[in-house]
Amino acid sequence: MQVKQLTCSLGAELVGVNLGDAVRDDGLFAEIRAQLLKHRVLFLRNQDISRAEHVAFARRFGELEDHPVAGSDPEHAGLVRIYKTPEQPNDRYENAWHSDTTWREAPQFGAVLRCVECPPVGGDTMWANMALAYERLPEHIKTQIAGLRARHSIEASFGAAMPIEKRLALKAQFPDAEHPVVRTHPDTGEKILYVNAFATHFTNFHTPERVRFGQDANPGAPDLLRYLISQAYIPEYQVRWRWEPNSVAIWDNTATQHYAVMDYPPCHRKMERAGIIGSKPY
Ligand code: SIN
Repeated sequence: MQVKQLTCSLGAELVGVNLGDAVRDDGLFAEIRAQLLKHRVLFLRNQDISRAEHVAFARRFGELEDHPVAGSDPEHAGLVRIYKTPEQPNDRYENAWHSDTTWREAPQFGAVLRCVECPPVGGDTMWANMALAYERLPEHIKTQIAGLRARHSIEASFGAAMPIEKRLALKAQFPDAEHPVVRTHPDTGEKILYVNAFATHFTNFHTPERVRFGQDANPGAPDLLRYLISQAYIPEYQVRWRWEPNSVAIWDNTATQHYAVMDYPPCHRKMERAGIIGSKPY
């Protein structure tokens, strides 16, 4: 297996590997997992694997889960279809920097995404290294955010275009989750900056040390949250991947955020994603 690092901050392409083989080969799988923790997102070309192999490979990392809004392949539970066609022109829900499912109590550990069909140009995906984003924060910001927690909600992203009854039902099924603003990576022990497009507000900012009167209006809290969320937008923390049919990306969803660039309508783009259940952040 050849490992070609793609940027100084994250991302590596694996060459000479077939993910179908990694389903059966423990040693190969262990090597891929180690490379994932090191490079945070791995890319592979020419993975002419079946949907069953795609699911079986992702399943080696842990249990898979479906998505409440994006449908799954009817014959392969856990394989979420991210299909964009001209018939769904307003379906733009992934087009914001995020890590998947942080609106859950236990957000996903990672995902395996395969390209089924892509536009001739455009439709790239970008990832940002959120361990590096934390490491490079100014020291006074690190001090300010130590111990802070934030609310994450499914409502304003996936629910926004829904009629109110449907949105409330979605929120009742997936109540807002609360996570530390800086979480510890369960495998590497690194500190990760852990707010993204799903984060709505800090839940423990309004303490007597920070807010003297009700009318102090949480001084600086919304700006601080916006600043932290915007760290993923910094190009020095990013990698950008150009898709081809049968290209695959495997990402560590704890340590990264991603952004699917929506520059290709009216072209088609069809992706299939196996999302791996993770653990409660601490
Ligand atoms: C996602 O947000 O998981 C989808 C990424 C993509 O379609 O490129």
